[in-house]
Amino acid sequence: MFQTIDDLEPGQRLLVRCDLNSPVEDGTVQDNRRFSRHAETLRELLADDHAVAVLAHQGRPGRDSFVSLEQHADVLADHLDREVGFVADTFGEEALAAIRDLEGGDVLVLENARMCDEELPEEDPEVKAETEFVRTLAPEFDAYVNDAYSAAHRSHASLVGFPVVMDAYAGRVMEAEYTANSAIQTREFDGPVTMVLGGTKAEDLIPVIERVDDTVDRFCLGGIVGELFLRAAGHDVGYDVDGTEFFDHQWDDHADTIERILDEYGDRLHLATDLAYEGDDGERAEAPVEGLAKDTSYLDVGSETADAYADLVRDSEAAFVKGALGVFEDERFAHGTVEVLRAIAETDCFSVVGGGDTSRAVDLYDLDAEDFSHVSIAGGAYVRALTGEPLVGVEVLEREA
Ligand code: 3PG
Repeated sequence: MFQTIDDLEPGQRLLVRCDLNSPVEDGTVQDNRRFSRHAETLRELLADDHAVAVLAHQGRPGRDSFVSLEQHADVLADHLDREVGFVADTFGEEALAAIRDLEGGDVLVLENARMCDEELPEEDPEVKAETEFVRTLAPEFDAYVNDAYSAAHRSHASLVGFPVVMDAYAGRVMEAEYTANSAIQTREFDGPVTMVLGGTKAEDLIPVIERVDDTVDRFCLGGIVGELFLRAAGHDVGYDVDGTEFFDHQWDDHADTIERILDEYGDRLHLATDLAYEGDDGERAEAPVEGLAKDTSYLDVGSETADAYADLVRDSEAAFVKGALGVFEDERFAHGTVEVLRAIAETDCFSVVGGGDTSRAVDLYDLDAEDFSHVSIAGGAYVRALTGEPLVGVEVLEREA
């Protein structure tokens, strides 16, 4: 196990890796659960009189979302209800001067770590520890705190280099995400375990199904992936219409695996029995899957399916959600996702809701995050945790502890 911030003496100079990677719309960074969750860790650290520099990334080079962290500092300031400094530099002279000015209770956001050439190439922690980036920043601090569980699958300098050369601790988000997201691999449950799988990418979900095989008793499928499984089951859906590009290339790549899983898992795989679409009047319309011939996009599972999945969840000892059952951002097609989340919230079972997008449905539809055992802010890292794949950022924290 790793050390946590409980093991820190008060009043230290800390380099804290957060994951503030957020949606950016028209150049504006969108507030989201990542800010509020990291703010909790930071609040605790500041109350202990630590001087804190936050290291984080945003987007990937070449994408529109690859922007400065200046706005992130402002959003964080709103959450913390205190001033948060920002410096448009990560480990150059300007950054070092701002870091040296920090006093106990101060917080400073450094510039986007991915703007540094040494950050991104995936290399071993020992190699990352030798970069100028790590060698320059490390001596400025007493300790490193990694709170960025959701980026811990990346072997980047800011995530794996520092623990090799500094005392390293897990922040509260890292601790909570690690414990809850590993539960499917580490805990035993007395009753049925249900996994709700949706979203758009078959390549994410297929390994999850195969790797949790021993733990999960039934899988409820929806979204694009659910429709691909319906196609494998012989229904006339699960292909592209009207210029969409969701299905056919995935079918080309994964049809054999999907057919094999369908065959092997049999009754444990639950597929939609009805689907929802936009009717001619612009309202939600539904149709049974049986006998359906696809001529439009299906945007949600139907009400009968939602009820059946909700019933399965109510009868579960544990429920894990990865991916949405429909396009919940549009209220007309939120029914499947929200109905199942509501059933989980009302049921006294161990529950984890994950995948950046799915957890957004919790906020959009006024569900209470407290009604779930854990609402994860991780995307790729959550999928890896479900499949039991180690996360390099966690491994290095454990190893160096
Ligand atoms: C995320 O948003 O899932 C993490 O910050 C990792 O981002 P990446 O997929 O761009 O590496």
